[in-house]
Amino acid sequence: MNIAVFVSGIGSNLNAIINSKELKNLVEVKAVFSDKVDCPAFEIARRNSIDTFCLGNKEDCVGYEQLANQLKSLKIELIVLAGFLKLIPHIIVREFKNRIINIHPALLPSFGGKGMYGIHVHESVFKSSAQVSGATVHFIDEEYDKGFIIAQRCVDISNVNSPAEIAERVLEVEHTLLPFVIRKFAEGKISIKERRVLIQG
Ligand code: GRF
Repeated sequence: MNIAVFVSGIGSNLNAIINSKELKNLVEVKAVFSDKVDCPAFEIARRNSIDTFCLGNKEDCVGYEQLANQLKSLKIELIVLAGFLKLIPHIIVREFKNRIINIHPALLPSFGGKGMYGIHVHESVFKSSAQVSGATVHFIDEEYDKGFIIAQRCVDISNVNSPAEIAERVLEVEHTLLPFVIRKFAEGKISIKERRVLIQG
């Protein structure tokens, strides 16, 4: 299965996908896209000989209006947002219905929505005195963090002393949860029935 990964940051989730044993010979990362011309995650892509594309109207970038054609020419079957901070244009959400997933560093629907990204999520979790947090992989629709939830994994944060500690524990489970969900897509084992996402064993 051909996938495109969209990034805006360090790329640790991209790295986890590229190096995942369970995705070997099953999934190919055909391209990495970013809204940032000099995205640090591009280094990981280039080290693995994966094409990188910046998005936007800057020189040598792919315009958002050309993105759908670019993805089709790459024969992309699944779009994975891994730290991508921009909204996906409605036309792409429609063209790739139920084939765009995002990983969010908290247990949606809590601690999600506009402005809830990076350390802001973990600060909000910390201040709430929540005793568990975790990661969520969900479908992308036209609103931030509102698509159907596909999979979640919890982490115990009852003994943390800072938002950074939460971030560290959550990031660790992200790196196994995201490849797991991508594998299930590649195996055709994800379905939606009556507003519930089912993952076959
Ligand atoms: C992760 O915490 C992810 O949950 C969130 O953005 C961060 C991306 O980190 N969407 P990285 O760039 O994959 O290291």
